[in-house]
Amino acid sequence: MLAQEIIRKKRDGEVLDATELQFLMRGLVDGKVSNAQAAAFAMAVYFNGMQLDERVALTVAMRDTGDVLTWDLDGPVVDKHSTGGVGDNVSLVLAPALAACGVYVPMISGRGLGHTGGTLDKLDSIPGYQTQPDVELLRKVTKDVGCAIIGQTAAIAPADKILYGIRDVTATVESVDLITASILSKKLAAGLDALVSDVKCGNGAFMTTQEDARELAESLVKVASGAGCKTSAIITDMNEPLASVAGNAVEVRNAVDFLTGTHIDNRLWDVTADLGAELLMLAGVVPNVGQGRDKISAAFTSGAAAERFGAMVSGLGGPTDFVENMLKYLPAAPVTREVYAKTKGFVQHIDTRGIGMAVIELGGGRRIASDTIDHSVGFSDLVGVGELLDGDEPIGVVHARSDADAEAAAQTLQDAMKIGDDVLRPKPLIREYIAYDND
Ligand code: URA
Repeated sequence: MLAQEIIRKKRDGEVLDATELQFLMRGLVDGKVSNAQAAAFAMAVYFNGMQLDERVALTVAMRDTGDVLTWDLDGPVVDKHSTGGVGDNVSLVLAPALAACGVYVPMISGRGLGHTGGTLDKLDSIPGYQTQPDVELLRKVTKDVGCAIIGQTAAIAPADKILYGIRDVTATVESVDLITASILSKKLAAGLDALVSDVKCGNGAFMTTQEDARELAESLVKVASGAGCKTSAIITDMNEPLASVAGNAVEVRNAVDFLTGTHIDNRLWDVTADLGAELLMLAGVVPNVGQGRDKISAAFTSGAAAERFGAMVSGLGGPTDFVENMLKYLPAAPVTREVYAKTKGFVQHIDTRGIGMAVIELGGGRRIASDTIDHSVGFSDLVGVGELLDGDEPIGVVHARSDADAEAAAQTLQDAMKIGDDVLRPKPLIREYIAYDND
């Protein structure tokens, strides 16, 4: 088999079979297929697209270039995926809640991308927490605790890692075929029985329109289900930060407050409960989403989810009393400043992407891949769309390394919030359900 012949077929709009795609992906990892050939392949896919069977075959071929975990547990193995947003700390609260409901969650998460925050960067705020454990520790914590949130290791879908780097510099990132295979090759390597994808749309999401979000959500559902993992998707709103925080340590603190019932952001609750309910139903733990929501709620209110979170943190090397004493451990920024709106009125619109970019400016995200980040900085106490500002309440609190940084971030936050006399309803939070399709 010759790589150039497979590329020629795709260039001419023909359909590739599983053997050809396996040859290309395996060759990429073994060095038998060059980066130039992979770039040409990616461009051919970008222009000519793939049929569903091809997408499934590409996803499986990429997944199988690395370790694919198998489990022998007394409950289903599930995970959640998100296309990413601002103030989106669902993973931190959902994984332990699911664990408390009797399913197992080996959650392979990512770092911040563009203006969006990354679960691993947030967890790196916790001293000692290992985001890159070996497979043995991942297995042990998943089995003992029920959940382990970790990062992609070199052994997971290595073809994706190489191809992603090539796509990044060859203008081929924006192909739904390639995005689908990239996301799912990593997720499916964890050996899942069920997966739910949270596809965001809005001004803080990568897919700003609901139509684009739907196209990706449908692709993820069909391809993952075609690869043998029961999958559904929910399209959710990202026209304002999901929780009232954006950053790293501030999001961990918000998540622990949520788990312990100290402070609960309603939008975070709603999205978490819906994603969890959907997963519990897909995994066969409950007969319908209503019962799923009840079960997830009980996991939070009983304190069981908080207990699992604490066990996960200590199992992965963090403090044993993290939930009880998190303020002792989380880094705190030297400067905190309340920010007030310039006028009174209702919050009508929030530039969510702008808030995400401001976190990067503060040092809480990366400008280039090699940057180290400051986990202490960000925003907390953010107000939401529809809230009335009467002049006494801040629109948020900036956590910064210096007065100058705090000043610049305060300005950005003021500019990000459009305030007016009329109350505008926030856009619906849960936009659409894309159901599991077993045809
Ligand atoms: N996330 C991924 O993992 N891959 C993509 O191609 C896009 C987003």
